[in-house]
Amino acid sequence: MPPRDSIANTFMVSMILCVVCSLLVSSAAVILKPMQDRNKLLDRQLNIIEAAGLSEEPRKLSGQEIEELFQSRVTPRLLDIDTGEYVPESEVDEAFDPRKAAKDLERSQEVESAYDIGQLRREKRTWVYLVQDGEQLEQVIVPVYGMGLWSTLYGYVAIDSDLRTIQGLTYYEHGETPGLGGEVENPAWKAKWIGKKIWEEGVAVPDVKNENILVGVAKGAPVGDLAKYQVDGLSGATITSRGVDSMLKYWFSDDGFGPYLKKLASQQGASDGSTNR
Ligand SMILES: Cc1cc2nc3c(=O)[nH]c(=O)nc-3n(C[C@H](O)[C@H](O)[C@H](O)COP(=O)(O)O)c2cc1C
Repeated sequence: MPPRDSIANTFMVSMILCVVCSLLVSSAAVILKPMQDRNKLLDRQLNIIEAAGLSEEPRKLSGQEIEELFQSRVTPRLLDIDTGEYVPESEVDEAFDPRKAAKDLERSQEVESAYDIGQLRREKRTWVYLVQDGEQLEQVIVPVYGMGLWSTLYGYVAIDSDLRTIQGLTYYEHGETPGLGGEVENPAWKAKWIGKKIWEEGVAVPDVKNENILVGVAKGAPVGDLAKYQVDGLSGATITSRGVDSMLKYWFSDDGFGPYLKKLASQQGASDGSTNR
């Protein structure tokens, strides 16, 4: 046994301490992983519930209540973004993760668009969420993401069955500055999106082109007729605001959910803006 204050003993004690600590940290990471994954899933489900306005006080729901409400009201469908068609049931993998797919060369494609989302590639398939009353579509919720100032913002947009009116917008993940870009989470700002129109009034949804996308973030307050489509920018956060504007335009364009929403509108017999809200 070396003397307690020898160099060899000091090394041995620090080695043992390192091994014990690393074992503790790695077992904690492994043991807590399923809990973290469940919490992440619950958070996304909560954001979908919030965007769709399915609960008066979504932030007060327990984990179990979130799961039950989501399962009873929301139907996830896997979508081929380019064709706007649902993926056949036989090909659907319940565990499909669009964010992983966006990083996989085979399951993603280049982003080529006038609207910048700060990404070079995006997934070919993604989950969309339907809120239905029996067979009747009430809302469709689509995922959106794009670059702000410091980070990529990930969120959901709920669209009314008229396929032109926003019912809600939420962000479940971003790294913008609290009080500046982080104000995308401010309930007062989020509430401003409810009722905003995506496309130019008077143009039937199946006929909309990219130039008919008017939804977005104004610089300051939206002027005149544009108030139907735009929300005022976040003060002191012009870059985050621009990011939100760009990502909405991208995801509603023909490179995003345009083909899908047009298809849904044709199926529903949705006509022009004058007959739609
Ligand atoms: C510490 C710090 C954090 C900032 N965070 C953000 C942010 O999250 N989003 C953003 O758009 N601008 C942020 N800005 C401001 C930008 O650098 C830039 O000045 C701003 O977007 C310009 O907006 P304005 O024209 O509304 O002032 C931050 C600035 C500082 C100094």
